[in-house]
Amino acid sequence: MCLLLLCVFLSCLPFYLSAQTDRQNEKPIIGVLAQDVYLPQPSQTAYIAASYVKFLESAGARVVPVMINQTLEDYKTLFNSINGILYPGGGVSIVSSGYERAAKIFYELAIEANKRGDYFPVWGTCLGFEQLMYLTSKNTILAYTNTSGAALPLNFTNAEDSRMFKGFPAQLMKDLASEPLTVNSHKWSLGMLTYNTNEELKKFYKVLSVNTDGNVEFVSTVEAYDYPIYGTQWHPEKNAFEWTRPSIPHSPSAVKTTFYMAEFFVNEARKNFHKFETEEGESKALIYNYNPVYTGTKSAFEQIYFF
Ligand SMILES: *[C@@H]1O[C@H](CO)[C@@H](O)[C@H](O)[C@H]1NC(C)=O
Ligand SMILES: *[C@@H]1O[C@H](CO)[C@@H](O)[C@H](O)[C@H]1NC(C)=O
Ligand SMILES: *[C@@H]1O[C@H](CO)[C@@H](O)[C@H](O)[C@H]1NC(C)=O
Repeated sequence: MCLLLLCVFLSCLPFYLSAQTDRQNEKPIIGVLAQDVYLPQPSQTAYIAASYVKFLESAGARVVPVMINQTLEDYKTLFNSINGILYPGGGVSIVSSGYERAAKIFYELAIEANKRGDYFPVWGTCLGFEQLMYLTSKNTILAYTNTSGAALPLNFTNAEDSRMFKGFPAQLMKDLASEPLTVNSHKWSLGMLTYNTNEELKKFYKVLSVNTDGNVEFVSTVEAYDYPIYGTQWHPEKNAFEWTRPSIPHSPSAVKTTFYMAEFFVNEARKNFHKFETEEGESKALIYNYNPVYTGTKSAFEQIYFF
């Protein structure tokens, strides 16, 4: 009898193991980091541009705003409740701000968790990319570039053996390499020369694409070698969701780029199994508790969540 049970158990084992590795979190919740508004008002001290929320929602994630100025304990609890985090673009300090403090805490928690086999993805866009470079190198290493409103094709470097671009259709990769589908909206960049001479950055990140402003060659897309940490100096979320600047591309391939980037990151979050302790805690944390405001007539963003 025992032997029989053992056999049954053993024959089940391979199925159980493969079920384990294929297991996916089909209800991923991703944190999006807030930042101080430039001119605070009583009811508007921090914000998240709605395009980052739509970006993640378009690929099947729900979003929780990660407020700045919270306690370390609150951030740890939130970290253990969400399945990934996105650091958006913006205009605050990457050396000392509420954004920087929260980004650093989540970055360190993510590194620790990933080392333990708790897969926790981190994404940085534009300022978020610059923040990641600062957190990894512990240095202010950015160079001025003339890239305040430039749509550029990606000059791919190692994209063919990247995790990020692996699932992209071949035609979209061709379009990305030949058409200006990625919008840059920054004055500071990680120069390729700086990357090549910075041991910390070189051993941590693989460069997937570079660009130039005609003068300085800069890193435009990275993924970490050993961690699910990703950054784009350009804005994948804008193509589908922002209309305020003529430099933002909206062609079918540009909009597909938004979606495939979002899908990649949301799939990364599906590999994480953190969850809120209670359903009530989850409901209270979701971005649905806030309403975005239409700001497209006076801001670079069509809609903004204010906190
Ligand atoms: C966060 O803290 C900083 C420094 O104390 C303060 O200037 C800022 O107003 C705070 N912002 C929010 C949104 O709490
Ligand atoms: C910056 O780039 C724009 C084109 O994107 C160009 O028209 C302008 O002359 C450049 N400015 C400088 C100072 O190079
Ligand atoms: C792409 O980047 C490589 C490596 O830095 C450089 O040699 C090449 O000239 C760039 N190509 C374009 C079209 O800018």
